[in-house]
Amino acid sequence: MDSSVTLGRLELGRATVTPAALLNGPGARERSAQNQHQHAGPRTGPLGCVPLSHQVAGHKYGVDKVGILQHPDGTVLKQLQPPPRGPRELQFYSMVYAKDCCDPCLLELQQHLPKYYSTWASPDNPTELYLKLEDVTRRFQKPCIMDVKIGQRSYDPFASQEKREQQIRKYPLMEEIGFLVLGMRVYNVGSDIFETYDQHYGRGLVKDTVKDGLCKFFYDGDLLRRDVITASIAKVQSILRWFEKQSQLNFYASSLLFVYEGLPSFSEDKFNTLSLQKNEGVLEYNNNIEASLSTMYSLHKKGCMQSHHPEMQDNSTWHSLLTQGDTDEQETSTQEVPHKVEVRMIDFAHVFPSEVHDHGYIYGLRNLLKVLQQIIDD
Ligand SMILES: Nc1ncnc2c1ncn2[C@@H]1O[C@H](COP(=O)(O)OP(=O)(O)O)[C@@H](O)[C@H]1O
Ligand SMILES: [Mg+2]
Repeated sequence: MDSSVTLGRLELGRATVTPAALLNGPGARERSAQNQHQHAGPRTGPLGCVPLSHQVAGHKYGVDKVGILQHPDGTVLKQLQPPPRGPRELQFYSMVYAKDCCDPCLLELQQHLPKYYSTWASPDNPTELYLKLEDVTRRFQKPCIMDVKIGQRSYDPFASQEKREQQIRKYPLMEEIGFLVLGMRVYNVGSDIFETYDQHYGRGLVKDTVKDGLCKFFYDGDLLRRDVITASIAKVQSILRWFEKQSQLNFYASSLLFVYEGLPSFSEDKFNTLSLQKNEGVLEYNNNIEASLSTMYSLHKKGCMQSHHPEMQDNSTWHSLLTQGDTDEQETSTQEVPHKVEVRMIDFAHVFPSEVHDHGYIYGLRNLLKVLQQIIDD
């Protein structure tokens, strides 16, 4: 166990711990690899929600007009963007996750997306809508995360000339490369630090350097995680197969979110020990807030944390979750299985009905696969 794990356990063992403290707590050691400016601004959201601590790209809560929050139940809340983008993304999720959906193509698509738990609004501000989504990183202890925009065009068919030019200027190589690293965070095992890379890093990558640029995501400071690359390739191939079959939707400026476990020897044995400790009521430290919250949630369900978190008991959403029961959470608290690698599609503000294959997205996926394969072969 490394020192931060031990420290974290002590910290979390305090009776006064709150979700906010957890989110800003120890171990959140991050070093920007790209002189990323520190964001200032309001850091609290509605009803115990906080800005997503491990967001690697996109609009940031408290910085941009809209952004992403973390709900105390471990889900993420994506604030609806101004029309037409927000309603379009809402419509997309509603269509794919419609209760009566029987379109096999959409049902298959669900497995490549974060789970969608409908819209959410705070009672204080019922008109400000959020999409309530599964946090794809939540089961990981030291989640390494990369957001890669896919496609040859970042602008949709209805974009103004000005918007097209602006998007092309941002990354003129989009057409040729077909993907763009928007941001990433990589765990360095030796230093126990997350290194972060912002959008400028990806935009600086050209045809000759994109392989090495992408490679950084799979490097833990000591080893190249070939196992992770292999697993990522399999997931991207599965998404590619879906795109090769379907011609009803076209995606612009949409991303793949890659996540893998940064802890090097995350063997099942170690994981089982961890689960056992959790089940015994010992709060194990980890650097992923969702896992902490998930643990708190498990303990809370068992009634272990009532004195620590009275505010959560007053939260109706929290309560409804407890009473409804979440099969996902039940899985997590009992037989937790490590998810070594996740690749999910995110960001659907520019998805449109179509009658043709999504050639731009397919091109991007194939080139991304080619580059990933080159990394392994070298
Ligand atoms: N379901 C999710 N699980 C975990 N992280 C997410 C999820 N959705 C978004 N994120 C994080 O938020 C960032 C921005 O999300 P995105 O949907 O692309 O928003 P935007 O429309 O602002 O670009 C992603 O790069 C990722 O770090
Ligand atoms: Mg995005």
